[in-house]
Amino acid sequence: MNNLVIAVDGPAGAGKSTIAKIVAKKLNINYIDTGAMYRAITYKCLKNNIDINNEDEIIKIAKDTDIDFRDNNIYLDGQIVNEEIRTMEVSNNVSNVAKVKEVRYLMVDVQREIGKRNSVILDGRDIGSYVFPNAHYKFFLVATPHERGTRRHKELTEKGYEVSLDEIINDIIKRDEIDSNREFAPLVKANDAIEIDTTGKSIDAVVDSVLSKINI
Ligand code: DC
Repeated sequence: MNNLVIAVDGPAGAGKSTIAKIVAKKLNINYIDTGAMYRAITYKCLKNNIDINNEDEIIKIAKDTDIDFRDNNIYLDGQIVNEEIRTMEVSNNVSNVAKVKEVRYLMVDVQREIGKRNSVILDGRDIGSYVFPNAHYKFFLVATPHERGTRRHKELTEKGYEVSLDEIINDIIKRDEIDSNREFAPLVKANDAIEIDTTGKSIDAVVDSVLSKINI
């Protein structure tokens, strides 16, 4: 593995994508939002009225889908779907799609392929533990459920969505539970990952602590 690979894992709303995007810019490397890939498949399933508990149907859709992440854009069959994948409906269903092993195989192939060709920072749940076990640097970001919910709530209300904070905190807790307890490649801190608690910390402070660990 010659390209630089940095893994950023952790539960929903811990600040992974915000931090990874800034670090990518500072280091002039690519940023890959792996959660966006699972969201895009979920969005397509919902759009096609697929029963989200029917694994065979989900797998069929996933096999017939082209997913890519380039220049901070998520492409679903060639179309940018950055906004469509951030709805509460997608958030509420994505963990059920992401727990399907065959879907994960397909997404992980795409992620590894990108990592083979470029220096990358990827954020997700299983990047340091499964996708790139030999990543040069591994970070695991955490924060209290209340803080994580408050961040997501701010993001969504700024975009004009009307959702209650309680609803978001409940969704986050439920997703963490499914993501952590799934059989295959669950949300877990890799043994050699550096844990950073982002509760009450500014974005700059977290970026600084990540960069302070990286020697390139
Ligand atoms: O980071 P996010 O909230 O956009 O991720 C959406 C969902 O996708 C999350 O609930 C779990 C799943 N996911 C995953 O299983 N593995 C990843 N590498 C990234 C996300």
